[in-house]
Amino acid sequence: MKKTSAPANSNSEFYKPPKSIIRRANVKEYENLYTYSNEHREDFWAEQANNLKWFKKWKTVLDNSNPPFYKWFTGGKINIVYNAIDRHLKTWRRNKVAFIWEGEPGDVRTFSYHALNREVSKFANILKSMGVQKGEIVTIYMPQIPELAISMLACAKIGAAHSVVYGGFSVEALAERIADAGSRVLLTADGGYRRGKATNLKEIANEAMKRSPTIEVCITVKRTGQDVYMESDRDFWYHDLISLPITNNKCETEVMDAEDMLFILYTSGTTGRPKGVVHTHGGYSVYTATTHRMVFDIKEEDRWWCAADPGWITGHSYIIYAPLINGATVMMYEGAPNHPYPNRWWHMIEKYGISILYTSPTAIRGLMRFGDAWPNRHDLSSLRLLGSVGEPINPEAWRWYHEVIGKRKCPIMDTWWQTETGGFMITPLPITPLKPGSATKPFFGIEVGVVDDAGNEVKTGEEGKLVIKSPWPGMARTIYKDPDRYIEVYWKDYEKMGWYKAGDSARIDEDGYIWIIGRIDDVIKVSGYRLGTAEIESALVSHPDIAEAAAIALPHDLKGNAIHTFVITRAGVSGDKTLEQELKKHVSHELGPIARPESVAFVESLPKTRSGKIMRRVLRARALGEDEGDLTTLEE
Ligand code: PRX
Repeated sequence: MKKTSAPANSNSEFYKPPKSIIRRANVKEYENLYTYSNEHREDFWAEQANNLKWFKKWKTVLDNSNPPFYKWFTGGKINIVYNAIDRHLKTWRRNKVAFIWEGEPGDVRTFSYHALNREVSKFANILKSMGVQKGEIVTIYMPQIPELAISMLACAKIGAAHSVVYGGFSVEALAERIADAGSRVLLTADGGYRRGKATNLKEIANEAMKRSPTIEVCITVKRTGQDVYMESDRDFWYHDLISLPITNNKCETEVMDAEDMLFILYTSGTTGRPKGVVHTHGGYSVYTATTHRMVFDIKEEDRWWCAADPGWITGHSYIIYAPLINGATVMMYEGAPNHPYPNRWWHMIEKYGISILYTSPTAIRGLMRFGDAWPNRHDLSSLRLLGSVGEPINPEAWRWYHEVIGKRKCPIMDTWWQTETGGFMITPLPITPLKPGSATKPFFGIEVGVVDDAGNEVKTGEEGKLVIKSPWPGMARTIYKDPDRYIEVYWKDYEKMGWYKAGDSARIDEDGYIWIIGRIDDVIKVSGYRLGTAEIESALVSHPDIAEAAAIALPHDLKGNAIHTFVITRAGVSGDKTLEQELKKHVSHELGPIARPESVAFVESLPKTRSGKIMRRVLRARALGEDEGDLTTLEE
């Protein structure tokens, strides 16, 4: 890419995409189509929806009779799996590679669309034989193995909703999510590989099932072969079931209403209880497929690698659903990027001829620290486009990614979005001149604002709250079993205007480019993973020695943010190094290693408002040696 004007880190540093990319881009023009997509919102989305196969066409594109509970493509009948698999089987894509999967130990499995259909159908038949019904929520807790994708697709195929719990989460996180979803069936594995070691998924699942007794059936995929406890009448091995005669290769894909639930995905918010964000078959299919095709310029011959975990929204939307709908070849890798050596990713890019890599700033920073020699040993010339997601990318990491990985010829799609938005919201297209660190402009049909508390647009370059001003097909429909919370969290602040509050702060520069600054609520992004301060605090106080706790985020070179905690011990207990270590381990055991605090400080009191709310802002300011700001509401 050609750099047009220079000064480092400046807002006017533009990188223009290479002509070869512009010439072949799926979308060749932004401004006019953007205007059209907002002025003729329903026409625009109807045109996109027409790229999919519907069992029955919709009556209404957008039903806005009961905001903020918008409905899309009502009256339409569809199934996302019909679009992601079935329809390809009638074309030459039947024999195209759908998934290339590499395990951390180096084992490889590939699936054509035909093979994927066979495996999904078999798994779907197993689920049916266990009595799984349309509309029921199946919890999936798996490592990054093909069966994770297969089981999600199997649920969707028979009209059950899935709730995937990230395999890096632990006992309490899993138990709580099973309980909220009221799942009767749990799909898991004995373990997976991470940095050369087998993780103990089934053991965690067993402990979680004790805490959440709704599970009647647990199906376990054998991955590592380690010894695990299996309870008779409840636990089944997947390989035993799959060899039974009931699991034939044919299974009808269920006809669903466009607004039927496809999945719930729990995400952290400002209170302790995670929110089950609800997505649907119709709008989500249209939105994810459209954004993926337009932003990542998907071509038939591409090899697409979204190096996220399928257990997060990035994986749901852009490892599984959108790429399969677009008939792409998808790369999936089980393990750590630096195992056994820091060239693992670069090696796989060369080995499989990956053309598009989509990852997080944390992964980029993590690999960058090993130096250029590792990527330089490999032929990365198959790469055409790069992507970034999950947290703001610092210009230094952006430039390294651009120069050392992309060899200055691969535009970087810095995509801003959320679990709740379903797909990309603010993002460049391959034709967009880029500024390192800016997610650039809103996607088609997305109107954004950066506003103050009263809803006035802030001045150019000033920080404000990011809002979305109009509905889009991929938007979350509600929070599972808690519509009031859906209104409260996202819609209440700008109720009169009908705007969605993202929970992020941002600024817009003189060129109309959007710069995401970060979360402004009690959500912490650690290595791009989303955690709630309240979840970490509740894990800490679940330890018998702890009476009160507060968690905050402080900047971290590699992770973007790190978790720092402050605790008050129970009477008679004194804080020391041993307890500090024990508390870190406890949080890791309850929530997962990503939630492990960087530090635990023992304190006598916590700054609180008179109504008893912990003032994390004050703790943060103190830790950073900054001005503590307005303390008038501080109790003591
Ligand atoms: O703070 C923003 C940050 O990630 C949050 C959403 O987290 P989650 O629901 O886990 O989804 C992550 C993957 C879509 C946002 O509120 N975020 C996401 N993408 C970016 C980002 N921050 C800056 N730049 C991005 N490209």
